[in-house]
Amino acid sequence: MKTVAAFAGAAVLLAACAPKVEQPSTADIQQARQAALSFEQQMKREITTRLERNDDAVAVYMSYADHAPEWAREISNRLELDFSRTALGVRNPANAPDDWEKQQLETFAFLMDSGLDPDTFEAAEIVQEGDATVFRWLRPVRMMDACLTCHGETIEQRIKLLLAQEYPLDEAAGYSEGQIGGAYSVRKVLRVGDQPAPAWTPIPEPVVLPADQRQPGDAPVVAPSSTPPE
Ligand code: HEC
Repeated sequence: MKTVAAFAGAAVLLAACAPKVEQPSTADIQQARQAALSFEQQMKREITTRLERNDDAVAVYMSYADHAPEWAREISNRLELDFSRTALGVRNPANAPDDWEKQQLETFAFLMDSGLDPDTFEAAEIVQEGDATVFRWLRPVRMMDACLTCHGETIEQRIKLLLAQEYPLDEAAGYSEGQIGGAYSVRKVLRVGDQPAPAWTPIPEPVVLPADQRQPGDAPVVAPSSTPPE
C-alpha cells in the first residue's frame, strides 16, 4: 500500500508551514493499518471466499450480520484502540460516521471523482476533542464483486427480505464494483490534558440475538458501542 494519500500529503505540507500541528506517529499509523488488515482477512476468510465457492448467500449473510461487529470489537480490544467501519450511507445506523469521518469520506469521494486512485487514499490526523488528544485514521474500502451480493444494484430476493427486516434504514445498497463502499476507521486517545490516556476499557460484548432468532421489531442490529463521548 502506498504511504500517504494525496490529500494527506497536502496536510503534511500545510503542517510544515505551521510547526505546532502535531503529526501522527508512524507506529499509530501502522497499528491502524494492521487493524484494517485483520478485518479484511476475516472478511475474506468468512465472507468473500465462501461466496466465491458458491456457499448459500443466506448462510453467508447470517454469519456476516452476526459476526462483523464482533470482529471489529475483537480487533479493538486486542490492539486497544477503537476500530470500526463506516460509510456516508450506512446499513447499520450504529456505523454512522461522526463529523471527522464524514469529512474524510467526502474528501475521498471528491478525490476519486477527480480521477485519483482510492487505493492510495489514507487520512491520518491528530485532533483535539475537548481535553483529549486523539489519533484518527481512515482508509476507504472498495466494493468488490462478492460484496455486491448484499451491496449491489440487484440483490437476490431472500437477501433483500433479510435486509429489509433487519436494516429498514439501509443506505448501503446500489453499489457497483470498484466504488468506495465505506471506510475502516481507527480512533485512539493519546493523552488527556497532560496525562497519558487512561487504561483501555475492553468493549463489552453487545447484546444481539442471532440473525435467525431476530424479529422484525428487533432491527436494527446494534453494534458494540465504541462511539467516543462527544
Ligand atoms: C452477505 C451479505 C454481505 C456481503 C457479501 C457484504 N456485506 Fe457489507 N454489510 C452487510 C451487513 C449485514 C452490514 C451491517 C453489518 C454491521 O452491523 O456492521 C454490512 C456493513 C458494511 C459496512 C459498514 C457500514 C454500514 O453500511 O453499516 C461496510 C463498509 C461494508 N459492509 C462493506 C462491504 C464490503 C467492502 C464487502 C465486500 C468485501 C461487503 N460489505 C460484503 C452485508 C454484506
